[in-house]
Amino acid sequence: MLVVISGTNRPQSNSSRVARLCQRRLEALGQEVEVLDLVDLPVELYRPESYAEKPASFAAWQGAIDRCAGVLTVVPEYNGSFPGALKYFVDMLAFPTSLVGMPCSFVGLSAGTWGALRAVEQLQGVYQYRQALVYPMRTFVPKVYEELSADDELQTEFVSKLLDEQLRGFCEFVQRNPRTKPGEDAGS
Ligand SMILES: Cc1cc2nc3c(=O)[nH]c(=O)nc-3n(C[C@H](O)[C@H](O)[C@H](O)COP(=O)(O)O)c2cc1C
Repeated sequence: MLVVISGTNRPQSNSSRVARLCQRRLEALGQEVEVLDLVDLPVELYRPESYAEKPASFAAWQGAIDRCAGVLTVVPEYNGSFPGALKYFVDMLAFPTSLVGMPCSFVGLSAGTWGALRAVEQLQGVYQYRQALVYPMRTFVPKVYEELSADDELQTEFVSKLLDEQLRGFCEFVQRNPRTKPGEDAGS
């Protein structure tokens, strides 16, 4: 199973739309996909006590990350970086195991012209710190308000083909790099 993270808690975000677009394309490639949309994060997770003890409502989120074979993160650009909610989500994941050896891939989007290049590169550094296996190809969706059609498809053929290529390549990367799940012996 693959997880697609929609990387903001902003309601009605374009990240949500792009995450679901990625879900549809991955399912068409035969993948089972679970979308984790940060808009649905339980509000009690934001209590300061959560650093020490996670609320029970977070178990399903941690469980999805523990179970999955790979993570695709859809990253919007907020103030030249990725959203604070996305960093908070990563900070709430069990340390250090959650992303160790995890095949990860990134799609950026922004209202502006750079498609969240800075945000994705900054987030890649965070995931790499957590010892994720980063798939090198990324797709950037600039001017996202114009790019997405009414039925939530990408309108620029070049961007759409690039995303297809990335998703296909990522599926193969996941297959080539089976993850040792938390609690599993790498040798077994
Ligand atoms: C707090 C905030 C900061 C933003 N900063 C930037 C930015 O630095 N550059 C940019 O191109 N767009 C910026 N945007 C616009 C987002 O890129 C745009 O809303 C896009 O749709 C992706 O975000 P979304 O998933 O929240 O919709 C910002 C939006 C918000 C809410």
